[in-house]
Amino acid sequence: MRKPYQKPTILKLQVGFMRDKKSGLSRMVRREIDGVPVRELAERFGSPLFVFSERRLREQFRYLKRLFEGHYPRVEFSWSYKTNYLDAICRIFHQEGATAEVVSDFEYEKARRLGIPGDEIVFNGPYKPKETLRRAVLEGARINVDSMDEILDLEEIARETGEKVRIGLRVNMDTGIYPRWDRFGFNLESGEVLNVARRIAAGGRLEVVGLHCHQGTFILEPEAYGRAAEKLVQLARKLEEEFGWTIEYLDLGGGFPSRNRLKGLYLPPEVAVPPLSEYAERIGRALLSGLPAGDYPLLILETGRALVDEAGFLITTVRTVKRLPDGRRAYVLDAGVNLLFTAFWYHFRVEIEKEIPGPPEPCVLYGPLCMNIDVVEETAYLPPLSRGTRLILSPVGAYNVTQWMQFITYRPRVVLVTEAGKVEVIREAETLEDIVRRENLPEHLR
Ligand SMILES: Cc1ncc(COP(=O)(O)O)c(C=O)c1O
Repeated sequence: MRKPYQKPTILKLQVGFMRDKKSGLSRMVRREIDGVPVRELAERFGSPLFVFSERRLREQFRYLKRLFEGHYPRVEFSWSYKTNYLDAICRIFHQEGATAEVVSDFEYEKARRLGIPGDEIVFNGPYKPKETLRRAVLEGARINVDSMDEILDLEEIARETGEKVRIGLRVNMDTGIYPRWDRFGFNLESGEVLNVARRIAAGGRLEVVGLHCHQGTFILEPEAYGRAAEKLVQLARKLEEEFGWTIEYLDLGGGFPSRNRLKGLYLPPEVAVPPLSEYAERIGRALLSGLPAGDYPLLILETGRALVDEAGFLITTVRTVKRLPDGRRAYVLDAGVNLLFTAFWYHFRVEIEKEIPGPPEPCVLYGPLCMNIDVVEETAYLPPLSRGTRLILSPVGAYNVTQWMQFITYRPRVVLVTEAGKVEVIREAETLEDIVRRENLPEHLR
């Protein structure tokens, strides 16, 4: 068969590109995920396909737990549901000993449905519907209050139940991380937290037993956690002295980075992302040096991304090959920003399922949406791919299967490669029926 004609193009030489040994072909190939061939996964379960590795999830959890317990005696990991709330993923972390961190009525219900008792739930978020708040109080959840209105709601609930309600306060502060997430909770430096504490004490219906601070996500400065821990310890001491409360837990939120490549960072993750041991060391040091010996509140960590991101892969297939007017190759994949919301912030690792001859050249990876912003990667360096080639994108375990959207196409299957090497479907692909089930055609339009 004659090969189809392709217009010749002249490519601008990219400095460093041709000599970069790391872009060598063998480094771009991924034939399997935890021993299961990519080809088999795609043939059995379709493309696109999210694939999670149970082994990596458990190993990363155990690793982080060990790290932090090596620096502080009382640590609890509370799994951040929003990062990935598929039942199977949550169950794995719960089996490993994590409690549940939820930020909405939906997530609260999802955790309870999965059998997590209320007193193993940390309830955060800027809007907690009153009904769910009441339920959380009755079920003994740890509630971290975000606003004065929530305090008023909780005082009303306390009046109804006739019992004091135990709460945590979410605190925002300057730890050197910008932009500051200061729309959440009460500000430390302005004195707002202390004023709110005075108001709570005067109300007599609530008791502050915890402090919470989540600074943001993908935080690349371990030192910021040290500062947050120091400030929370000082605040705890002040509250205990002034109001007679006992601060039982200090919750440092989430925010530890994964080995992903944030846009705007030009160093590879191995260089740009500090090891998680530095975070553990810095937090442990701040807590142990600030707290009286032996009197240690529980340290809660709501780590999401750093636990799950690297356990997730997306298999996607080149469906169309194009040339752009500027000569670059472009590929239309069957997965775009509808499935990879985090593509707006991260450059994923792009691997090919088999070796393909030909020098890597700069190309663009588009998704299947008819929107100009549907770009998975503006500049990847790949050998010339043909239609049907499968790519493996990673790490994609954090936030994508919660923030994905059902736009003009279906959400695909999600599978788990178990520790025993079996492949289990943990979320079925959507069908037209799933999507139209909730619609209603009024009588006069039928
Ligand atoms: C309150 C709270 N806790 C925990 C997390 C998890 O953060 P990460 O995935 O960066 O660890 C978030 C995410 O934004 C959050 O808002």
